[in-house]
Amino acid sequence: MDFVRLLLVFLHLLGMAILVGMFLLSRRAEPGSPLNVGWLHGAALQLVTGLALQLLAPLTHAHYINAKLGIKLLVLLVIAGLALTYVIRRVPAPKWLTPTLGGLVVLNVGLAVFWT
Ligand code: HEM
Repeated sequence: MDFVRLLLVFLHLLGMAILVGMFLLSRRAEPGSPLNVGWLHGAALQLVTGLALQLLAPLTHAHYINAKLGIKLLVLLVIAGLALTYVIRRVPAPKWLTPTLGGLVVLNVGLAVFWT
């Protein structure tokens, strides 16, 4: 069962890398471009792997801080909500969107690492 947890952590970290990559891509996008759909893929991967890690905790004998995971989930839902809104509408992404999404990703990395 420990392999399953490690596999999920591996995918969870790749999901974080996708979101950081999307931040860098979005910063270099032409003004007026719609939001890259990769934001949605990265957010979905984080949601699925994060929830699976949490739900499988009794089987993997992992001990997590539920308040921390709850806040990470809320932050991720804001990321996913914003990404979904702007990807579906295909309107030009506003200037504040990329720094906001990037800041929320960094917030979740900070929560994951420093809240022990
Ligand atoms: C933008 C979204 C997210 C980012 C960037 C992120 C980032 C990270 C990072 C960097 C770690 C590794 C921390 C370490 O090993 O010290 C981690 C671990 C973890 N994350 Fe997330 N996370 C996100 C969303 C979520 C969500 C929504 C959940 C579940 C509700 C979640 C659940 C977990 C769990 C359970 C671990 C511990 C894995 C383990 O070591 O067994 N994450 N996350």
